[in-house]
Amino acid sequence: MTSNSDTPPHRRTVRSFVRRAGRLTASQQRALEELWPSYGVAFDGKPIRFDDLFGRTAPIVLEIGFGNGDTLVQQAADNPGLDFLGIEVHEPGVGHCLLKARDAGVTNLRLIRHDAVEVLDTMIPAASLSRVNLYFPDPWPKKRHHKRRIVQPRFLETVAERLSAGGSFNVATDWAGYAEHIDATVSASGRFECAERRVHSGDQPLDRPGTKFERRGLRRGHRIWDWRFLRVDNQPPDLATGEL
Ligand SMILES: C[S@@+](CC[C@H](N)C(=O)[O-])C[C@H]1O[C@@H](n2cnc3c(N)ncnc32)[C@H](O)[C@@H]1O
Repeated sequence: MTSNSDTPPHRRTVRSFVRRAGRLTASQQRALEELWPSYGVAFDGKPIRFDDLFGRTAPIVLEIGFGNGDTLVQQAADNPGLDFLGIEVHEPGVGHCLLKARDAGVTNLRLIRHDAVEVLDTMIPAASLSRVNLYFPDPWPKKRHHKRRIVQPRFLETVAERLSAGGSFNVATDWAGYAEHIDATVSASGRFECAERRVHSGDQPLDRPGTKFERRGLRRGHRIWDWRFLRVDNQPPDLATGEL
C-alpha cells in the first residue's frame, strides 16, 4: 500500500440521521417546487442576516429536526412576535411543513433542508438565537450508535454559543436512555443551568405543542422528559465579580 502525502486525510463525519428514501406525495412535491421560494433558505454556509431574512428585528427561535413541522407551524402561528427557523433533512417532512405553513398563513417562518449541525456551525451567527428547540431527537438506542446522538459536547458548545444571553435550550425525549445521556452531557458541558425538568405521561408538556413522535412514544407506553435549559455565562470569577 502506498501513501500519498498530497491526499488530505479522510475525514469521517458521524451524522445524527440517515437519509430515508421516504416517498414524497404529489402535493408535497408541488409544495417543494411552489412554496420553497417563499419559505426556503438555501444552505450556502454563509451567516444568515436574520433582520434581512424576515424584514424586521424580532427574537429568533430555532427548531432542530422538526419532522413533519406541525409543532413548528403551530408555534409560529401562536407567536407572531417571534421569528422561527426550522431545520430538517427529511424531504417529505419539509414538504408537509410547507403545506401547513401555507394553510396557516404564517409569515414568520423559514426552513432549511440540511444537516442542522452544519447549519449551526456555519450559518447561525453567535448570540443570534433567543431559543433553540430540540424535540424528540433520534434516540439511537444501540450502544454502538450512541455517537450518532445529536446531543454531544461539541453540539452543546455550539448551541450555547449561538444563543443570546439568557437564551433557552428546550429539549424533549421519550427515551429513558437518551434522557440519562442528556442529563449527563448537558450538566458536564457547564454551559447551561436546568431551569425546569419534567417527567410526565404526555400531560405536562413544557411550553410546547405535542409532537408526532411524542404521540408515537406515548402509544408505546413511554414516559416523556422535558427540559428547559438556560444558557449561562461562564465568565471567570474575577471578570464576573470584578474581584481577583
Ligand atoms: C425522531 S424525529 C422527531 C421529529 C419531530 N421533532 C417530532 O417530535 O415529531 C427526529 C427528526 O430529526 C431529523 N434530524 C436528525 N438529525 C438531524 C440533523 N442533523 N439535521 C436536521 N434534521 C435532523 C430527522 O430527519 C427526524 O425527522
